[in-house]
Amino acid sequence: MSGPLLKMTGITKRFPGVLALNNVNFEVAPGEIHGLLGENGAGKSTLLKILSGAHHPDSGSIELAGQRIMLDSPHQAQAQGIVTIYQEFNLVPQLTIAENVYIGREPGNPILFSWRKMAEQTRAVTARIGIQLDPMTQVRDLSVAEQQMVEIARALSMQSRLIIMDEPTSALSESEVVRLKQIMRDLKAQGLSIIFVTHRLEEVMDVCDRITVLRDGHNAGEAEVKVIQIPDIIRMMVGRVVDDLYAGQHALPVDQSVALQVKNLRRRINKQDPHAIVLHGISFEVRRGEILGLAGLVGAGRTEIARAIFGADPLETGEIFLDGQPITIRTPQDAIRHGIGLVPEDRKQQALFLALAVRENASMAMLPQLSNALGFIKARDEATLMETYRQKLNIRMATSEVKVRNLSGGNQQKVVIARWLALQPKVLIVDEPTRGIDVAAKAEVHALLHEMAASGIAVIMISSELPEILGMSDRILTIREGRLTGEVFRKDATQEALMALMAVREGAS
Ligand SMILES: Nc1ncnc2c1ncn2[C@@H]1O[C@H](COP(=O)(O)OP(=O)(O)OP(=O)(O)O)[C@@H](O)[C@H]1O
Ligand SMILES: [Mg+2]
Repeated sequence: MSGPLLKMTGITKRFPGVLALNNVNFEVAPGEIHGLLGENGAGKSTLLKILSGAHHPDSGSIELAGQRIMLDSPHQAQAQGIVTIYQEFNLVPQLTIAENVYIGREPGNPILFSWRKMAEQTRAVTARIGIQLDPMTQVRDLSVAEQQMVEIARALSMQSRLIIMDEPTSALSESEVVRLKQIMRDLKAQGLSIIFVTHRLEEVMDVCDRITVLRDGHNAGEAEVKVIQIPDIIRMMVGRVVDDLYAGQHALPVDQSVALQVKNLRRRINKQDPHAIVLHGISFEVRRGEILGLAGLVGAGRTEIARAIFGADPLETGEIFLDGQPITIRTPQDAIRHGIGLVPEDRKQQALFLALAVRENASMAMLPQLSNALGFIKARDEATLMETYRQKLNIRMATSEVKVRNLSGGNQQKVVIARWLALQPKVLIVDEPTRGIDVAAKAEVHALLHEMAASGIAVIMISSELPEILGMSDRILTIREGRLTGEVFRKDATQEALMALMAVREGAS
């Protein structure tokens, strides 16, 4: 092998109030899968945005295959064979798969331009990663995993040498992660290099050849994966040892009565397709002090249950009881008024006001408590609360006046969680609460969920990470195709038992 494919030297990048990267060096060899790791806000996405031409470094140089290159725009990066699969997707939902793959560079002469040819070429690249999707399907009809496959197909169609994947697995279920890892290995076998960002360190051990760790915008270490263990990586990332907390159990509150009961929740997707039932009569209860896990494949209906209870989607039938009393929930405001909270899975679209400051976002759900009789927000209380949760969750930001859109992905998630922690609801539903959150912060979130349960809150937790479900839940319900398929208590729960209850039946459509 002759030298690295990519060599970034002395990269520095400053944002107002933050030194995001401080003299960082980064090298990727040809044909390797290179893990770029670090806590939330360490600077990973910033480094990769420089590499994809979206940000300009204040100083430093970039060489590709020994040649100094300038990356002044995403277009130039693509021309050099550097393609990015973004942390938040970049596809146009109203266009077809083929259109998305070739967007902005339709193949061939524009006069002879042929949709058929584009569809054929799309089929060829999707075949290269072993997926079968009709190129004429609209992207909005695809699952998150499928959309990601389209992004990868797009990268392949561009003759890339270096593919950047910034947290590609955070939105995928276990089986989809397995498939993505296989695709990554295939791409590597075809000679491509991949930069892979993830907070799940088992994935790093499984698929990466080498890692580079950033801490607070500095280089914190590099290693060959075959000579290290997960605790070594954590030490490089955090600078100390972190215990994994999912194992923790909480004390139980004195009052363990049923907090929430739902009966026969039913919902159809839409009026156009009356046969597509998403929830087929779901009934269950959750007690004070209990963490109830909802396990299932992506699309099984877990999020629909959460949204139905929270009043975010209309129900056809179904009853909800809080402390034994029937309640009516038509909107999220009704739910909040009754003390039911939801941390949604899609923080960008559902949970955050990106253009508002962190402080405003965090205090949004507690406005009634923070307002005085005249409806003015008590600024002092708000500031105190914000500071408490900033410390508790270690939210990294220059000040709480920073706009949420400028926080790193993981820190945005922490702001959503802070909002509900501050509200102290009776029932808290958390949907993929640690998606995109670093190991140390994940441990904090787990500890906080235990603390909330111990204080008497009924917690419903949805997670696609089975170890998290198994480690955190007192009881687990499995959901498949909009139906409850099983109930497993902590002492009996194993990964295999859950998988069997979650799996799609043979021959089912
Ligand atoms: N456009 C921006 N304006 C201001 N600050 C920014 C901007 N982009 C990033 N930052 C800051 O730069 C730092 C590094 O952020 P970055 O997104 O690179 O972190 P990350 O390592 O990708 O974290 P995560 O694991 O949470 O995705 C953070 O403090 C972040 O708030
Ligand atoms: Mg990031």
